[in-house]
Parts: sequence; structure tokens; C-alpha cells
Amino acid sequence: MNQRPRRNRLNPAIRGLIRETSVSPANLVWPAFVQEGNKLRSPIMSMPGVARLSIDQLVCDCQKAFDLGIPAVALFPVIENSLKNSEGKESLNPKGLLQRAVKELKKSIPGLLVITDVALDPYSCDGHDGLVQDGKILNDETLPLLASMSVAQAEAGADVVAPSDMMDGRVEAIRWALDDAGFNDVLICSYCAKYASAFYGPFRDALDSAPKEGDKKTYQMDPANVREALREILLDEEEGADWLLIKPGLPYLDIIRLTREHSVLPIAAYHVSGEYAMLKAAAEKGWLNYDSCLIESLISMRRAGADMIFTYGALDAASILHR
Ligand code: PBG
Repeated sequence: MNQRPRRNRLNPAIRGLIRETSVSPANLVWPAFVQEGNKLRSPIMSMPGVARLSIDQLVCDCQKAFDLGIPAVALFPVIENSLKNSEGKESLNPKGLLQRAVKELKKSIPGLLVITDVALDPYSCDGHDGLVQDGKILNDETLPLLASMSVAQAEAGADVVAPSDMMDGRVEAIRWALDDAGFNDVLICSYCAKYASAFYGPFRDALDSAPKEGDKKTYQMDPANVREALREILLDEEEGADWLLIKPGLPYLDIIRLTREHSVLPIAAYHVSGEYAMLKAAAEKGWLNYDSCLIESLISMRRAGADMIFTYGALDAASILHR
């Protein structure tokens, strides 16, 4: 045989020299849940190892993440039911939970990038990402709310706003509003292809944000579709997105690859709550090795074309990678 591919796998030195893909803590974004209170860490049942944190604890864990080389945190607030209404008004409160968390983080760890989620669901009594009227999710009426929410987050100090709502035209509406308010330097990480996925279940437990009625299929994408993702990608690019985010991650590697082939923008993949929960659950049963499967999942998303990965396992992964 004059062709023996195994020669290139002979030893760690050769394997290292020819390795095509890498993942480092610098590629990771840590999604974190923030709640009211002091010194509180409330575990999330369906996400072992993840807790809702009061701001002081969030700052402490973000410092750990930053020290491990993780450059960014993505924040998701747990809003008290009494503060939820149909317009998600609390999202604009300069003294609201999320805004205080952002301020505190930027004050304590100025070098850490803070990414904020733009969508109505954590703030809405309907649990939908947009305004609801007679069971319908309104598109154009939702845009000004998302734009104002983005400006409120930028005012608090957010470096990147990440619209996860999937309303049409929101990237442009947000870009204009940010620029009007003088926030030309705030980036938009657009969830451009976000699928109506059952893998978000544990996240909705964490925020108590599941839709009260219906589902999200009139705005999030059908898992069966590929060409539609391309349309969303191209539109968000035109509208002014700085980063394109694909979500979920591992079940949608083809979409990450597609995006890589059609856009020059940086790509983020979101290794979502259900993907994390699956690894943890199987590991708890002794059925698979969490550390290895986590790193393999991240490498796979990088191989597909993701520049950065949002993962609840960010701190675990960074620790493993430093070993
Ligand atoms: C909602 C939002 C969701 C997630 C991020 N932002 C859930 C949803 O669309 O219902 C899911 C993240 C995860 O599952 O980890 N705007």
C-alpha cells in the first residue's frame, strides 16, 4: 500500500501537527442566569451544575470565567412574575435586574464582554418573544420595543446586544435605534437562524419563560428547513448584523456550515440548554464521559465553521482545556 492514512495518526506529535481544528477558552461565551437577591445560587433541576445567580455571585463566577480566559458572558434575567406584563415594560427599567447586573459586571471586570439578550419572553406574562394579540405574535408592533430594549441595555453598558426573538426587520430597527442614541460601537449578534427547538426546554425552566399559550413556530424556524436559513442569514447581514448566531448547535451543524459558506461575518453557535442537559444526564448515569463529550461537541461546532460557541459548559471546558 502506498497510501496509509494511519501513518498520520501514529503519535500525539504527528496528530498535533496536522490537527485542523482547535477550540480554546477564547472561543467561548458563557450564558448565565441572573436573579434578584444576595448571595443566592439556586440550582436549576434540569441543568445540573447551572444555577440562577444573584448579582454578587454572578460577578464572582464571571471573574472565574474571565480568569480562565473566557472573554464574554451572555446574560439572561429571571424576572419576578409581578413585574411581567404583556409589553415586557420591565425590560426598559434602568434600575431593572439585567441593567444592574450589566453595570456591576462592567464596573468589576471591565475587560469582560457583556452580551445581553433582546426578546420579550423573560419579561412578558405571555412568555412569547413578541407582543401577543388574540393569539398572534405581532411583528411590526414588537420592533420598537426590541429597539428600546437594546438601547436600555446599551445604556447600562452592554457591549453586544443579541436579538433572539426572530421578528422580521429587527436587526435594522435595533441598529438604527442604537446609532440614534449614539451607540455606534455596540455590536449586534443576531440569532439569524433560530429553530423552534424542543432542546430549549431546560432554559425555559430556568427562566420560567415557557409560552403560556401556543408555541413559537410562527417566528422560530422549522427544524426541517435549510434554504430558509440562508434567507434569514442574508437578510440579517444586510440589516447590519455584526455576528450571526445559529441555534441550537450540535443538531444544526449543517446550518453552521451553510452560514460559513455564504457569509464572511463571524459565526456563533449556541450549544443550548437541552444539549448540555443531555450530556449531564448521561454522565450522571455513567453512560458517557462528560468532559470528553463536551470538548468533542465544541470541536464539532468549530469544525462546522463556528468562530465562537455559547455553552453552559464554558467554565468546565476552559478548565479541561487548561489541563
Ligand atoms: C428566548 C431564548 C431562548 C433561548 C435563548 N433565548 C428560548 C426560547 O426561544 O424559548 C434558549 C437557550 C437555551 O435553550 O439554552 N428569547
